[in-house]
Amino acid sequence: MVVDEADDEAESEVETLVEPWRVKVVERMRLPSRAEREAHLHAADFSIFRIPSSAIFIDLLTDSGTSAMSDTQWGGLMVGDESYAGARGFIRFEQTVREMFGFPNVIPTHQGRAAENMLFSTIVRPGTLIPGSNHFDTSRAHIENNGGEALDLAIAEAAELTSDHPFKGNVDLDRLRRVLEAATSGRIPVVTMTLTNNLSGGQPASLANIREVSSICRRHGIPFFIDACRFAENAYFIKHREEGQGHRTVAEIVREVFDLADGCTVSAKKDGLVNIGGFVACRDDELAKAIKKRLILVEGFPTYGGMAGRDLEALSIGLREVVDEDYLRFRIGQVAFFGQALLDLGVEVVTPFGGHAIYIDAGALLPHIPAMRLPGIATIVELYREAGVRAAEFGTAMLGSTNEAGVPFPAQAELVRLCVPRRVYTNSHLQYVAAALGKIRARASSVHGYCIVEKEPGPLGHFTARYEELPV
Ligand code: F0G
Repeated sequence: MVVDEADDEAESEVETLVEPWRVKVVERMRLPSRAEREAHLHAADFSIFRIPSSAIFIDLLTDSGTSAMSDTQWGGLMVGDESYAGARGFIRFEQTVREMFGFPNVIPTHQGRAAENMLFSTIVRPGTLIPGSNHFDTSRAHIENNGGEALDLAIAEAAELTSDHPFKGNVDLDRLRRVLEAATSGRIPVVTMTLTNNLSGGQPASLANIREVSSICRRHGIPFFIDACRFAENAYFIKHREEGQGHRTVAEIVREVFDLADGCTVSAKKDGLVNIGGFVACRDDELAKAIKKRLILVEGFPTYGGMAGRDLEALSIGLREVVDEDYLRFRIGQVAFFGQALLDLGVEVVTPFGGHAIYIDAGALLPHIPAMRLPGIATIVELYREAGVRAAEFGTAMLGSTNEAGVPFPAQAELVRLCVPRRVYTNSHLQYVAAALGKIRARASSVHGYCIVEKEPGPLGHFTARYEELPV
């Protein structure tokens, strides 16, 4: 039976992990000496963002803009049309998005946060409320920057690091219903969902949940938008984890998901398989008109929106390549392989494994370091010190807060995200990273805590923060 075949594929993700491509170009990497790594850490005030990439051996900071393009995409750069208005590449891009996502209005932007800026600066006013599954930091920042409030309504399991719920990116439907019923008319211009949920482990949302959110929104006459950076990975999880979906193609699932929505904002730097790019797409012509007016002011003419013509061309090709199921099987399988390698070494991670990254439980790795002494920062500093590897903190340094009296609060969990860039690293690279974390675990009690010595307020403060190592 077809469904069984799909299940078999899911089960054998780890055993049959073969890259469905071969390597055409290589880029040299160098591991700096231990002394160099130590000097870099001190010069950077222990902020991993301040370390030059030439001093990084394996960079798992993000999966955003770090994909390797295919030969077809590189070929596409050459035929990119750099016309200011009405470029051939835009027409092709518009057709691709219309066909794959079904939205008539397609507005390119230079990256995801520019798409968010265009949407939220158009629809958010002081007092506006935007409920969503789990707003990413840039979405939250754009909502707050325009005087609105971003409300996270992810299901309770999203916060449980090892709950085996297959769709921790789902919205809590009862809470959504209650919020929409209680809101005064016009206070909520859209409801959003983030596919996949980056802040809770790269976890997907189910088609059933997306259908429900869509129908609740329609009942209230409120548009439903998707933050769709990792739309293909989410659709692959639906195919393999959701009953009755195994026989469908990922492209069919993608189309149904977006048929349920009124629009989307996209950072194409993830599942667009490009190094730069993004877009907003929607059904509402009036909204599209208002966004385009703003776009001309800050991004560019609506047929290039801050992108070069060649980049638009690479993006049209990338959007089609990313729904290739051989690619996705390897992609999701490689992330699972990495997660399993860590678990085998006793390093606790968020499970089920996410789509684009493995999230380590730094609180469990370094149990002697309390949350306010930043075990996540301690883990990423130690990983760089040990192996020249760069990771990102998703814990108190990023998501901690202060109450009205100025008392600091820790984040819900102390996570460290190890992102896997698309088509870039081999399984041996990931094994090297897992082994380094295994060594850190073995000498965990000697790892120091950290404190913040400088941080801008607001959801983006962690990008420019500075830290100091504390005595053990
Ligand atoms: N939405 C989500 C869910 C994201 O993960 C990101 C970026 C954005 C929006 C913004 O897109 O970077 O193109 O402006 N996430 C990156 C990350 C930065 O590392 O997770 P952008």
